[in-house]
Amino acid sequence: MSERRLQKDRLPRHVAIIMDGNGRWAEARGLERNAGHREGVEAVKAIVRAANEIGIPRLTLYSFSSENWDRPKGEVQELMRLLDHYLETEVDEVMRNGIRIEAVGRLDRLPPLVRKRLDDVMERSAGNREMTLVFALSYGGRQEIVDAVSQILRDAERGQLDAENMDEKTFSAYLYDGDAPDPDLLIRTGGELRVSNFLLWQIAYAEIHCTGTMWPDFRKDQLVDALLDYQGRERRFGLTSDQVRGPQSENS
Ligand code: IPE
Ligand code: IPE
Ligand code: MG
Repeated sequence: MSERRLQKDRLPRHVAIIMDGNGRWAEARGLERNAGHREGVEAVKAIVRAANEIGIPRLTLYSFSSENWDRPKGEVQELMRLLDHYLETEVDEVMRNGIRIEAVGRLDRLPPLVRKRLDDVMERSAGNREMTLVFALSYGGRQEIVDAVSQILRDAERGQLDAENMDEKTFSAYLYDGDAPDPDLLIRTGGELRVSNFLLWQIAYAEIHCTGTMWPDFRKDQLVDALLDYQGRERRFGLTSDQVRGPQSENS
């Protein structure tokens, strides 16, 4: 199996996934869109398990965007129900596997009972250290940046911060996921080639892997393919190839 080809010492520290294609997966089978979301939950379970087995320390799943609130009411309700049900039924496995659950986004917009369930699971799992699983919920990248700026202005007014001390590190600490490492790898399923308001600040130097596989069909094999693709990239961060490869490759 191709998993053996993975270099364990070069795994991304943080993988972020835009889980797209549930609706089209269902429509292609003559099913209603919500059937695709239900199947999408099976993919979430499989990928969380796989990421933990492979040894990915942090996985962020784009589960519901701020724009998704404007979808038909019945679809929004089903997505909220599925989230609630996932948290209820997976918490035991999450605890057994040492997974810490976190969330980023405007969580205040979630239905109160879902919010309560999420808070409980986050609290219960806070001491787990194997892997951190982050759900982006009611999440918008621009909103995240605006929320950070609001808090920065408030802190500045109180005299806790001044313009001279502002730098990238200070700014990122104000984002929802604070000091967490940026995603090294961003995966998008479902065939579209866009970012859809996801982690705008954090993906500055992420490697991007887009696949036509619809999210409900995404499993460990597809995750391994994405990781192998990632490991084949040369990350230059603005430098030249020679600089990145070190002195032995210079003049060659
Ligand atoms: C992704 O699948 C899930 C969410 C956005 C919540 P979509 O529902 O966007 O599926 P498509 O893109 O319409 O196929
Ligand atoms: C992005 O998918 C949001 C999530 C995966 C939760 P969308 O289906 O909402 O994005 P667009 O509309 O194709 O850009
Ligand atoms: Mg979509």
